[in-house]
Amino acid sequence: MKSKLVYLDNAATTFPKPIAVTRAADECLRTYCGNASRGSNPLAMKSAQKIYECRELLSETFNCQPENTVFTYNTTYALNIAIKGVMKGGGHILISNMEHNATLRPVASLQRDGHIEYDTFDVYGKSTQEIIRDIDGKRRADTRAVCCLHVSNICSYTLPIDEIGKYCRENGLVFICDGAQSAGHIPIDMKRSCIDILCLPFHKGLYGPQGGGAMLLSEGVSPATLVEGGNGVNSLEFFMGEDLPEKYEAGTLCTPAVAGLCEGIKFLHSRDICEIQKHDCELFSYAESLLSHIRGVEICDRTRGSTMLFNIKDIPCDEVGEILGRENICVRTGFHCSPLAHKALGTLSRGGVRISFGVFNTPSQIDTLASVIEDISIGKLRI
Ligand code: ALA
Repeated sequence: MKSKLVYLDNAATTFPKPIAVTRAADECLRTYCGNASRGSNPLAMKSAQKIYECRELLSETFNCQPENTVFTYNTTYALNIAIKGVMKGGGHILISNMEHNATLRPVASLQRDGHIEYDTFDVYGKSTQEIIRDIDGKRRADTRAVCCLHVSNICSYTLPIDEIGKYCRENGLVFICDGAQSAGHIPIDMKRSCIDILCLPFHKGLYGPQGGGAMLLSEGVSPATLVEGGNGVNSLEFFMGEDLPEKYEAGTLCTPAVAGLCEGIKFLHSRDICEIQKHDCELFSYAESLLSHIRGVEICDRTRGSTMLFNIKDIPCDEVGEILGRENICVRTGFHCSPLAHKALGTLSRGGVRISFGVFNTPSQIDTLASVIEDISIGKLRI
């Protein structure tokens, strides 16, 4: 008989979802999924109400205005709007040396095509002071923005966003923050951290469905559009207009995913994000205590949080992932779309095995993982 599923790939997408999330998406599809902002028929109105409810929940959670809450397809899409919109017309942007491809690739392609220039600042293993000094040293007269993640997607390494945001505010730079791995795991306050643009996924720590992301703007921040089209507003106009959030929402929104996200956020509020952060750290410490006693296991970074990267001796990480999968344990191996972060951690030559926690994980699931890792390390389980 196949053993019980142990899902430790919550950094890729959280699973399972709270039952209220699946019910809400199902109810939306079955009973009211009209097209919001397209007319005043009752189903369109009900969808519009649900979408507004979600804007309010997001704005309350991250401290911005509901109107400044823009829905996108995912975090990558939100970051593309933010980066390309802010950098339209050229200039220089600074990104950290741990960025995911969602940030690296847009800036790299803009630079390759001669539109902008970018530099990286070092964060891994650096103090807050050193990070700010590096940003300051690399800032140029034409630097317009700093874009960096809050928490890495390959380990729990966390950037000092309060201080980076403060530096940006004091120096007239737009601060774009990738909250893909931290939203729902660590409290984020856009005002306190001086974040101008915060990009988030529905489907990770906020426990919503896949297919949606959000770009939250602080007041007065309004990058150029990336995509134009119908948004249900001023249909006779040839241009999108400046009204928020519609300026960025060309095409039909993912209403069932938005309905699910409302319940995901309410679920978080019922638990308290600080408690979730504590749970992540406790699971990390427990996994660390078990795995570090297994011969050959090397934990790549010890920052406590929802994500841990490790390797076992000279066994390729993909082989470890395949064996774990056979044992019904879900992890993600390889390079995690993050070559910069793997370079910073010194794992660019081999990648790693990533485990990542969510609210439904338990210490006994970590016991199961550790026992399989032990068997792999002694050669009892192989490909
Ligand atoms: N960015 C997601 C991950 O780290 C998909 O796995």
